[in-house]
Amino acid sequence: MTVVAFVSQKGGVGKSTLARALSVEAARAGLAVRMADLDVSQGSQVDWHRDRLAAGLDPAPPVQLHRTLQDALSYAASVDLLTIDGPARADADTLAAARSADLVVLPTGPSLDDLRPAVRVGNSLVKAGIPATRLLYVLTRVSSEAEADAARDYMISAGYRVASGYLPERTAFRTAQNGGRAVTETQYPSLRAAAERVVQALIDALPEEG
Ligand SMILES: Nc1ncnc2c1ncn2[C@@H]1O[C@H](COP(=O)(O)OP(=O)(O)OP(=O)(O)O)[C@@H](O)[C@H]1O
Ligand SMILES: [Mg+2]
Repeated sequence: MTVVAFVSQKGGVGKSTLARALSVEAARAGLAVRMADLDVSQGSQVDWHRDRLAAGLDPAPPVQLHRTLQDALSYAASVDLLTIDGPARADADTLAAARSADLVVLPTGPSLDDLRPAVRVGNSLVKAGIPATRLLYVLTRVSSEAEADAARDYMISAGYRVASGYLPERTAFRTAQNGGRAVTETQYPSLRAAAERVVQALIDALPEEG
């Protein structure tokens, strides 16, 4: 089984969004997927899952709210992929989640105000012994190609991997998720393609099953 953790220091950067997209696309590809929601104060994945079921969308991988990481991980053995959606702020569980994950996805906005704390979280994980190669940054809420390029250069200079592609800032992504869809399921082909490219980058970054 594979565990992918979505973590960040700042809130609202796209952790839940990317966890949904990866979960849905992996399930569509035939994997047994579970979604763990560790954000007990918001329960965003649980609510979204309910919306997804209400809209009759398929596949709808099961979601469960977990108070502890241990509880979430106890399900990992029974599936091919467990996605762990972390809380808004990096906390004690963030390090533990990163330790147990095969891949740690760190979404970040493109401004320096976003990138600096994103680098700090990465640094603290690396300092705690997690190899930088297990971390993958994803640029989200990007407004132009130039902005994406500059943010990518910043993260690479800091010594980190950045997923190819990015999620542009678009109302359509919110609209999709409001209706229980993943960002790979918007009605706009060009936005679907952008989201699919990011999801593919996450899949490509997964270590080979050992
Ligand atoms: N690329 C985007 N364009 C527009 N809106 C987006 C984009 N990505 C995410 N959003 C919206 O921004 C909000 C925050 O996204 P999301 O919930 O995925 O972030 P998060 O990191 O999980 O937040 P939190 O830290 O609060 O858990 C949501 O309303 C989501 O629909
Ligand atoms: Mg969230």
